[in-house]
Amino acid sequence: MDKEIIKKIMGKKEFSDIPESLVERVIQKVYNKEMDEREVVKKTRALLRKNLAAFLSRNLLKKKLLETERILRSHTSTRERYPYYELIYKEILRVVEEKEPSIIDLGAGINGLSYDYFLINGYKPRYIAIEAVGQLVDLMNQYFETHDINGRAIKMDLFNLEEVLEVVKNTDEPRIVFLFKLIDGLEIIERDYSKRLLLALKPLTDLMVISIPTRSLGSRKKFRATREWLKKFLRENFEIVKNFSIPGEEFIIIH
Ligand SMILES: C[S@@+](CC[C@H](N)C(=O)[O-])C[C@H]1O[C@@H](n2cnc3c(N)ncnc32)[C@H](O)[C@@H]1O
Repeated sequence: MDKEIIKKIMGKKEFSDIPESLVERVIQKVYNKEMDEREVVKKTRALLRKNLAAFLSRNLLKKKLLETERILRSHTSTRERYPYYELIYKEILRVVEEKEPSIIDLGAGINGLSYDYFLINGYKPRYIAIEAVGQLVDLMNQYFETHDINGRAIKMDLFNLEEVLEVVKNTDEPRIVFLFKLIDGLEIIERDYSKRLLLALKPLTDLMVISIPTRSLGSRKKFRATREWLKKFLRENFEIVKNFSIPGEEFIIIH
């Protein structure tokens, strides 16, 4: 892969701190022989923008670390969910006996800033976020430090399966893995990767919680895709512990 193109793509601030491996993968996805360099750069950035929280969080990053609520409300993925965090974690933790489990949040965005809602529900997990966008990783780590939280965010490309599994293996059991609003993005770049990821995590985890948007991000429009393939795959390979929904998002807990 031409290092210059990667450098050029990452030259934009919003992509300046993401794993190179992810940029390379996306270039391979968009590339065809007829394209000139400009087009490759443009198409790659467009697909990255679609998948990463980088673009959405530019405003957020300017704000520095002020009130948690304001930040959670300002971020597209967490805004709609904000009024329901307490309920969501209550529904999930209801099936968890251990009060200090490990939670590994894949493609976490800024979800780590919702840590207080674990405490409100009487749990004190060790929380690990894996996220491609370095700025969000820094933001979460700052938050953990200033709020004395047992958490850590790691900049990593989820397509590097072995690295992800290593992180998971290095946490104490029981382990709960979150994949909130993540599957679509992974599938756009590599079809069926989410199945591979879920199967690889299966022997290492006690529970996994998957969420899927039920309407498209940023619009009120009802989301058409029913995700039947995902549900079928989950039914065939896991025990479904429970499902629940909040407006705009459905959660599936599997074992
Ligand atoms: C739609 S957002 C959801 C964020 C968070 N899970 C939530 O629901 O609030 C998807 C997140 O996954 C991250 N992401 C996408 N592809 C990734 C990859 N290959 N490796 C690591 N993170 C990735 C994005 O940067 C973004 O923060």
